[in-house]
Amino acid sequence: MDLRPIGVFDSGLGGLTAVRRLMQRLPGEDIVYFGDTGRVPYGTRSAATIAEYAGQDCRFLEKQNVKLIIAACGTVSSVAPHVLRQAAVPAFGVVEPTAAAAAAATVNGRVGILGTSATVRSGAYEQQLRRINPSIQTVAQACPLFVPLVESGWIARDDEAAVAVAKRYLQPMKDAGVDTLILGCTHFPLLSDIIRDRMGDGVTLIDSGACCADACARLLTQQGLASGRETGGEGRFFVSDRPEDFSAVAHRFLGREIGSRVLVAHAEEPAICP
Ligand code: DGL
Repeated sequence: MDLRPIGVFDSGLGGLTAVRRLMQRLPGEDIVYFGDTGRVPYGTRSAATIAEYAGQDCRFLEKQNVKLIIAACGTVSSVAPHVLRQAAVPAFGVVEPTAAAAAAATVNGRVGILGTSATVRSGAYEQQLRRINPSIQTVAQACPLFVPLVESGWIARDDEAAVAVAKRYLQPMKDAGVDTLILGCTHFPLLSDIIRDRMGDGVTLIDSGACCADACARLLTQQGLASGRETGGEGRFFVSDRPEDFSAVAHRFLGREIGSRVLVAHAEEPAICP
C-alpha cells in the first residue's frame, strides 16, 4: 500500500484529459499535476528543448514525492522517452500503451496517427506499432491548429472553423482507409465528435489518456504501488504561469471545477508547496 500521489505532467492544460481518465479509473489515488502553462506549446519546439523541459518537469514532480510519473503530453512521450527513463521513480508516456491499444483494435491493419508537429516528426508511434506488428501500415498527420482551437473552446460539433480544419487534416486518413485512429495529443479527445463525424462509425478512435490510465492501473498493481483505497483520491494542481486562466478553462478538459486549488510553480525552480 503506497499513499504517495501519482505525478502527471503536460506542456499545459491538455494533460487534464488524461487526469480525468485517471480519476475515473483510479478514484482512490491522489494525483499531483504540473502544467507548464508558461512554456506551452511544446509541439512546435525542437527535440532538444522538449527534452530539457521534460527533464525539469520530472524533477519538479519528484520533489512532490510522487510514486510514479506519467507524461500525459504526446509530444514529450514521442520525442523524449529517454528523459522519462532517467526519472527517479517509474515513469512512462502515452506512446506505448496507446500504440498497443491501436494495434489490438485494427482489423484491416491500417492505423492513422494524429499529433503535434514534433510528435509526427519523431515517428515514435510508427516505430512502436511496427515493433508490435510489422505488417501494420501507418499514416500520420500533424494537426497543430487543433491545439489553439481546443484551447479557445471551438469544439462544438457544428463549429465551422473546427470542422473545416478537421476536414483538411483528416482527408489523408480517409484516403488511406484507416480503421483505427490514434488521438496522439492531449487536446484531441475534445474534438472526438467532429473527428468521428468526419471519419464515420467504422473507425475506432484511440484516446491516449484512457490508454495511459489503464497502463497506470496495471503498473500500480504489478509494482505494489497502489494506494489500496477505493475512493477519496484528491488532486493538487500546479502551473508555471497564469493560474487564473488554468482554473477558468480546466473544467473543459477535466470535466469538473478545480477552483482555488491551483498553485504557481516553475519546473526549473524549487517547488512552492501548499
Ligand atoms: N500537450 C501537447 C501534446 O499532447 C499539445 C500541446 C503542445 O503542443 O504543447 O502533444
